[in-house]
Amino acid sequence: MTTTFRHEDMRLMVDYENGTVDRRIFADQEIYELELERIFAKAWNFMAHDSQLPNPGDFFMTRIGEDRVICVRDNDGHPQVLVNTCRHRGNAICRADEGHATSFMCTYHGWTYDLKGALVGVPGFKEVYHEELDRENWGLIKAAQVDSYKGFIFANMDAGAPSLNDYLGEVGRIGLDLIATQGDMVVLPGVQKYTIQCNWKLAADNVWDFYHPAISHASSTMSRWRPFPTIRPTNRFESPHVVVLGEYGHAISGPEVTEETRANQANNAIHPDWRDEPEAKAALGPVGARVGNHPHIFPNCWLVPNGEQLCMRMPMGPTTTEIWWFTFIAANQEADRHAIQQHRAIHTFGPAGMLETDDGENWGESTRGMTGVISRQYPLHYAMNHRHDEVIEEEGAPAYIETKINEVAQLWLYKSWTEWMTV
Ligand code: FES
Ligand code: FE
Repeated sequence: MTTTFRHEDMRLMVDYENGTVDRRIFADQEIYELELERIFAKAWNFMAHDSQLPNPGDFFMTRIGEDRVICVRDNDGHPQVLVNTCRHRGNAICRADEGHATSFMCTYHGWTYDLKGALVGVPGFKEVYHEELDRENWGLIKAAQVDSYKGFIFANMDAGAPSLNDYLGEVGRIGLDLIATQGDMVVLPGVQKYTIQCNWKLAADNVWDFYHPAISHASSTMSRWRPFPTIRPTNRFESPHVVVLGEYGHAISGPEVTEETRANQANNAIHPDWRDEPEAKAALGPVGARVGNHPHIFPNCWLVPNGEQLCMRMPMGPTTTEIWWFTFIAANQEADRHAIQQHRAIHTFGPAGMLETDDGENWGESTRGMTGVISRQYPLHYAMNHRHDEVIEEEGAPAYIETKINEVAQLWLYKSWTEWMTV
C-alpha cells in the first residue's frame, strides 16, 4: 500500500543522533519518486567531460534522474543539455549513446532541432500548420543551468539553484581536483554501463565503507587480479582515516594518504608523484593532500582519483540502479601506462570487475532486505565511530575529522538526504 510521507515522517527516517536509518528509504516507490523531484531535478548532475565533446556537434547521452538528456557542444563551443524528447509527441530525438550531429531530427514526423535545442524544421509548416505554429515556444526542454569545473560539465534543471561553484564548495572542488590535477586528463572511449538490482543510495554510501573490503573482497584479493601487489596495513582497525564533510551532502572519507599508501600505489599510478606538483598542491590544499580515493559529489557521483575513474549511480527505480564508469587517462600517456589503466578499469570495477561483482551482490541482497513487511520495520545501523573524534578547523582548508574506519560520511549522506527531501 502506498503511503503519503510528510516532511516530518522523512525527518524521522534518519536519526542522526543515534546513527540509524529507516529501511523504507531504500525501496519505497513514493519516496523514490520524491527523490527524482526533490534531489535529481534540483541538484547539479555530472553530464560529461570536455574531452568527450571536443568539437561542435559532438554529443554524449546521459540522464538527470530518469530523464534522458543530450549533452552536446553547440556551434559557439558551449555545452548544451537538452532533454531527449520531442515536443510533438514525445519521441526520442536521438537514439545514440554518443556521436556527432549537426541537428537532431525526430524520426517520428521529422520535427528538427538545432544544437541549442531550437525548433528549426517542421514538415508541412506552411501547408498544414499554416505558419501558425510558434516555433520559438516549441524548442526542446533544456537544463536551466550548465557549467563546468576544470573540464567536468554539470547541469541543473532548477533555475533557482546556486551556481555550480557554490554547490561544489571546497569539498566538491577538491574531489574534482584530485583527478583534474593529475595531468591533461581525457576520458577513454567507451563508458562501461550495467545494471544492479539495488537502491542507488546503497551504492553511493559504499563509497566510504572501509569496513567491508577485508570481508567482501577477500576472495578477489586472494586471486591477485591486480597487476601489482597491494600492501595492506596489519590492523585495518588501527589505520588512520580522514573524513571531510561538505555542504549539500558532499563528502570525502577514507584512509589517510601517507608515505606508505603512496608507495603502495606508485606502481600503477599514472603519475606516482602528481601530488607533489605545484598545481596539485595549490588546488588540494593541506586537507586535500591528505585525502585519497573516495570523494563523492551529492547525489550520485563518485570520483576515484587513485584509479582515475568517475562513477555515476543512475537511479532506474527504487530497487534498480545503472552503474556508469568513465575512465580517464593523461592525454600524453605512454603506451604501457595506457595498457595498465585499461586493465585496471576493466578488472577492478564495472561488470567484469573483481570488486564490483562482490559489491553488487551485497547491494542487491541488502535491497531485498528492505522490502519485507516485517524487515522494513527495523532500522539500519550507521553509527560506527560517530562522534568519537573532534572536528578540526584550520585556516584555508575545510573542516575535517581524524579518525579510523567509520560510518560518519555515510550518516552525513543520509542527514543531507533528509534536508533535500524536506525543503
Ligand atoms: Fe517528433 Fe512527431 S514525435 S515529430
Ligand atoms: Fe567494495
